[in-house]
Amino acid sequence: MNAMSIVIRVGVATDATALAELAARTFRETFAADNWAEDMALHAAVAYGTSQQQRELIDPDIVTLLVEVEGQLAGYAQLRWGVSPACVTGTKPVELWRFYIAQLWHGRGVAQALMRSVESEAYRRGSRTLWLGVWERNERAKAFYHKNGFIDVGSHVFMVGTDPQTDRILVRSLPTVMSNVGQMQRERSTRPNAPRPPEFAVNFRSLPVYSASVSFNGRHSLLLSRMIRPLGRLVIAWLEWRQKRARPLKR
Ligand SMILES: CC(C)(COP(=O)(O)OP(=O)(O)OC[C@H]1O[C@@H](n2cnc3c(N)ncnc32)[C@H](O)[C@@H]1OP(=O)(O)O)[C@@H](O)C(=O)NCCC(=O)NCCS
Repeated sequence: MNAMSIVIRVGVATDATALAELAARTFRETFAADNWAEDMALHAAVAYGTSQQQRELIDPDIVTLLVEVEGQLAGYAQLRWGVSPACVTGTKPVELWRFYIAQLWHGRGVAQALMRSVESEAYRRGSRTLWLGVWERNERAKAFYHKNGFIDVGSHVFMVGTDPQTDRILVRSLPTVMSNVGQMQRERSTRPNAPRPPEFAVNFRSLPVYSASVSFNGRHSLLLSRMIRPLGRLVIAWLEWRQKRARPLKR
């Protein structure tokens, strides 16, 4: 990928019109080919529009992240705090309610950059588990979430207009070590005086436990995740213990 300028920031009320346009457009791009026009229109009428997006942007239980590429709005993600389905059993859950990148930027690393910001924002606000619903037929999104460490734990019904559709429910935990390190690295890149991240920076997803969870699916991933979660917790506790014992960090 050529170098490109990506800015990710928290949306504010004055972004409502631009966000409403992007949200309606990316919804159409994603689902119009596989849904009835009437259902699409019914859904868009309640979900999108300047006043609706404005309400979301000022809602204290919703955080909207906007991604701009070369100065143009290219995607957005929304985290929503509220009730989670029974199959989401991780601690302090938050819903990754919407995650959309404009078609032009698919497959170019923009989604990955936004996902890193989602993790860090959710973590910073006290959440430790991300969950989401994704249409069972949205193969590209499912592949993207799976490669980002999400696993399938169940399903729920999502209405698109009059059409009851099945969403798979995916979850992943926000490991403390990775999030701390990621956040510290980001702060250091914009503020050189910020504390250095620990020298043993660990990418949790590179640990075998998580790669294993990605390479299985359905029943197997659920079973496997049940087996590996305690092991993952042990690894995190050990890394945190090491971090606490580490000598004071040099500037
Ligand atoms: C979902 C989304 C955010 C992913 O971003 P992206 O930039 O397209 O993601 P990536 O290219 O990094 O990853 C997509 C993966 O799916 C794979 N893929 C593409 N089409 C696929 C298909 N039809 N079936 C299975 N996998 C597919 C790609 O090969 C890629 O995997 P790889 O990196 O291992 O090759 C983006 O496509 C998007 O915004 N889609 C429309 C909105 C949407 O569906 N949002 C999710 C709502 S829950």
